[in-house]
Amino acid sequence: MSTLSTGESATDHTSSSEAVRAGSAEPSDSGLADPGDRRGRRTAAVIPAAGRGVRLGPGVPKALRTLSGVPMLVHAVRALARARAVSLVVVIAPPDGADGVRHLLDEHNLPDVTVVPGGETRQDSVRLGLAALPESVDAVLVHDAARPLVPVETVEAVVSAVREGAPAVVPALPVPDTVKEVEPRPGGGPEPVTGTPDRSRLRAVQTPQGFARTVLAEAHERVAREGDGATDDAGMVERLGHRVVVVPGHEEAFKVTRPLDLVLAEAVLARRRATDGGF
Ligand code: CTP
Ligand code: MG
Repeated sequence: MSTLSTGESATDHTSSSEAVRAGSAEPSDSGLADPGDRRGRRTAAVIPAAGRGVRLGPGVPKALRTLSGVPMLVHAVRALARARAVSLVVVIAPPDGADGVRHLLDEHNLPDVTVVPGGETRQDSVRLGLAALPESVDAVLVHDAARPLVPVETVEAVVSAVREGAPAVVPALPVPDTVKEVEPRPGGGPEPVTGTPDRSRLRAVQTPQGFARTVLAEAHERVAREGDGATDDAGMVERLGHRVVVVPGHEEAFKVTRPLDLVLAEAVLARRRATDGGF
């Protein structure tokens, strides 16, 4: 994982004519050199980064906001590329921002990452990313750019479970709060409680979620988009009746959603710098 991939590129055999890729031959920081495992199977990471980040407040798209001076997206790409099994990375950029993201990745010495423009919803974006994968990819990790600090151990745990035969794998943590189900009152006012699920059976789901490629592709072909689209790929796979399993998530794989999450992310990075030089 320390030299540039000289084999098949992420855009070989792809039907997407929109993929944006620089043809640099310099060694890159992504280290995407793995041509696949011993049986030639390849794992791709698809990183949706096309959201605006409305809940974070005004500013550039969320994935482009910086943490310790480095864009969140760059942290996320490095986190996934660090996993031994990941042999290519596809980033899904804001629909009108693919050239800018390409430039940004090149600036951070990540030229061998493919960039495709995203869609209106996360579900649309992931579908567009899947369409850009070469045929040789048979396992896919879908990872939110908004989870920039996921540890490599979590990524490896998901990949291992997929490689051992699980069609769909999600990292998740127990839920610390008691959770209520309510009757939403969109106009405001107190919401009637309709139930209290047994907390010991609940898990808060993170990414990367890992899939056999055929299973994820089937879900994106067959599960129709409703409203804001699916926020969870495994949920689409569940709807088709496929088995989804959970592996342990990690507290540092939290999603940067609201301003306070930026404070937490900076604190995690500061702790990493203090303890092990940045990783
Ligand atoms: N995402 C995407 N395409 C979209 C919407 C979201 O690729 N049309 C990505 C985001 O960039 C993010 C991930 O999906 O990495 C998870 O989404 P979320 O945390 O909801 O991010 P945003 O949609 O950007 O934030 P918000 O909902 O606050 O606007
Ligand atoms: Mg969103």
